[in-house]
Amino acid sequence: MQTQMLVDEAIGELKSRIDDTAIIACSGGIDSTVAAVLAHKAVGSLLHCVYVDTGLMRKGETSEVSEMFSEMGIKLQVVDASARFFESLSGVTDPEEKRKIIGEQFIRVFEEEKGTCAAKFLVQGTIAPDWIESGGGDRDVIKSHHNVGGLPEDVDMTIVEPLREFYKDEVREIARSLGIKSSERQPFPGPGLAVRVLGEVTPERVDSCREACHIVESRIRESAARGECDLPWQYFATLLPVKSVGVHGDVRVHGETVVVRAVASLDGMSARYSPLPHVLLAEISTEITNSLKGHVNRVVYDITHKPPGTIEWE
Ligand code: XMP
Repeated sequence: MQTQMLVDEAIGELKSRIDDTAIIACSGGIDSTVAAVLAHKAVGSLLHCVYVDTGLMRKGETSEVSEMFSEMGIKLQVVDASARFFESLSGVTDPEEKRKIIGEQFIRVFEEEKGTCAAKFLVQGTIAPDWIESGGGDRDVIKSHHNVGGLPEDVDMTIVEPLREFYKDEVREIARSLGIKSSERQPFPGPGLAVRVLGEVTPERVDSCREACHIVESRIRESAARGECDLPWQYFATLLPVKSVGVHGDVRVHGETVVVRAVASLDGMSARYSPLPHVLLAEISTEITNSLKGHVNRVVYDITHKPPGTIEWE
């Protein structure tokens, strides 16, 4: 009942603020999907939903998101911008610089899209932890979340953020009440796999990370479904530019390292590492090193809580 009131309030507020064409970037994640569904309910066809394929998405994600929007009856424009993202990230290794570049590229893509629909408003799925952790006032900058810190000052649209005061668990409740298919999906960062590929973000290294994430997600989900472990709040792989010596068959390999990360959390503000069964971790490790032979020859498990670690490595 309380959730329904929040939904009605948010729709009312969007109706009163948006009186012209609005654009929203939908990644398919809970935050942007909830923001899009609320805005669509509020202003209908005034809303132009864009899915930016950055080349930094998970395996099969683009087609899954397109299907979900089509089932909800919301038109979604898919823009393939992967080439420009990889080009702008070329040679960049600093985490904050990556986030700023990605934020800027997103806005530039929207601006081009905006030209096609003459949008006056930019709707964003920013939630409370995004701006809290991005600093401001007396707060320290932990990470510039791409929909906050990466925003260039010269963006000439009115920004509307209907979820700004909400935390993840509250947004999930709203998603459930709206019947959104991705409501139980684990969070995925706005900058995508770029913050899970430490060091330079090249198409090849992103492919390795994508495959490792797919293996981690699939195996953990299956194991939880068999009742062997609790499904963590978030679980994924990160690729480190740390090379170590290994052996495959009789051949020496000098490959990179994959970190498996799985945490329990309520809202992402704090987290505890999930004590996954060793059998499952060993299965994940074998599958990753077999699938990424020649690229990855070592898999480690992150046992850091947040704080002091953050959930993502960048
Ligand atoms: P950290 O790594 O800061 O992450 O402990 C907390 C939660 O936020 C997600 N995350 C992001 N989400 N834009 C987002 O929309 C971002 O730039 C971003 N960075 C991290 C992270 O996956 C975790 O769920």
